[in-house]
Amino acid sequence: MSKLNSALILLAAAALLALKLRASDIPLPEPPNDASLIAAPDAASADRLAWWNAARFGMFIHWGLYSQWGCHYPGTNGELLNGGSEHMMQHLKIPLRQYAKIADVFDPTNFNAGEWVAIAKNAGMKYLVITAKHHDGFAMFNSPGDDYNIVKRTPWHRDPVRELAEACRKQDLKFGVYYSLGRDWADPDVPTRNGYRSNTWDYPDESKKIFASYFERKVKPQITGLLTQYGPIAVLWFDTPEEISKAESLELVELIHKLQPDCIINSRVGNGLGDYGVQEQQIPGAAGVKSWETCMTLNGHWGYFLGDEKWKPASSVIHNLVDIASKGGNYLLNVGPTGQGEIPQRAVDDLRQIGTWMKANGQSIYGTTASLLKVQPQWGRVTENGETIYLHVFNWPVDGKLIVPDIETNQATLTAHLLEERDGKELKLDHNAENGIVVIDLPAKPLDPIDTVVVLTH
Ligand code: GLC
Repeated sequence: MSKLNSALILLAAAALLALKLRASDIPLPEPPNDASLIAAPDAASADRLAWWNAARFGMFIHWGLYSQWGCHYPGTNGELLNGGSEHMMQHLKIPLRQYAKIADVFDPTNFNAGEWVAIAKNAGMKYLVITAKHHDGFAMFNSPGDDYNIVKRTPWHRDPVRELAEACRKQDLKFGVYYSLGRDWADPDVPTRNGYRSNTWDYPDESKKIFASYFERKVKPQITGLLTQYGPIAVLWFDTPEEISKAESLELVELIHKLQPDCIINSRVGNGLGDYGVQEQQIPGAAGVKSWETCMTLNGHWGYFLGDEKWKPASSVIHNLVDIASKGGNYLLNVGPTGQGEIPQRAVDDLRQIGTWMKANGQSIYGTTASLLKVQPQWGRVTENGETIYLHVFNWPVDGKLIVPDIETNQATLTAHLLEERDGKELKLDHNAENGIVVIDLPAKPLDPIDTVVVLTH
């Protein structure tokens, strides 16, 4: 295909995207990533998702043995080898016997579940998802049937999943767990396509690996443990389905809902199942018909990574959250605590700033739905809640005129005010009923340079 042709196709797709938001006869384009893989939700799924859809903002926590030295590993001369990420065990091909020894020194004495949950809560987050088992196969909970876990193998002997579940209950956050499904580098029976994400250094023969054995021996008992030991598990956040069969994905979904009917499952349970789709490190260009969530790192890594100081400023996080909410999605923002059990200070500072904005403006995020505007305004984003429209102004217009296209409503009753102004002072507003354009006179300066919210109601 010529470059011109592809450009034309892209343009046509973009035009369709721009048009689609109110045109119910045009099928909505699917957001990218695995969101498009899940089937349309049934009524039970919609019920399960009710709180989740209103929540909009959650905390993702990647914490495991890889956190001990910030995804680095001591080499033979005592120097720290760069493990790349929480995939360190695979990147450096560390033999299981060796990797497991990290557990001997994993002693996160500064861990305080109440503090972690308070950090999330004060940031305005409504749920929390922690890695119960990542690809390295080490369980960060007291896992039944498998002693390769934090309680049995570390000098710390505590169960952070239990402590976090309790702290979430106390502080009224929903609690969820991440589980690496089709990758497990501690188990001999987990093949991946061409062995590309398998433990081939301890277990080289991929042809001998039988996923079903691992599924029976480890996955089902561990998922059962997670759902029976800790009270309500609000979300089961699977990763990397890899070689799981449709029958196994179905069996897992059934097992989960037998134990906890309200537990929400993400699309990475595999084979088109699950309640919602996942986007990783990206935000789709438009809203989708299905529920979806973007998970994203606060710096450049999921697991705590030594020397990674590329923190996203609070302003970017807030803009991302608003962008996501304006397209009907959720934002699961990740932090990677250290081997000592601390969320890095810069992350804490960022989250505090985000929380300040959320305290003043959360009403324009929680319980909102995707914007129905046909075009994305260049000054920011729009969220809606019933008849109320929230205009999120990221770029304050220099001439003080906020132009809102395409408001189909009765001119006579439309009013505008700044969300943060408690006295509800009305802003001057001009509504052209013919072309639907509303022009609002703004004060000279924004109340918050990151995002000042104007409320349109009638
Ligand atoms: C990426 C990472 C994985 C992480 C996941 C979270 O796939 O490789 O380690 O857990 O993102 O979505």
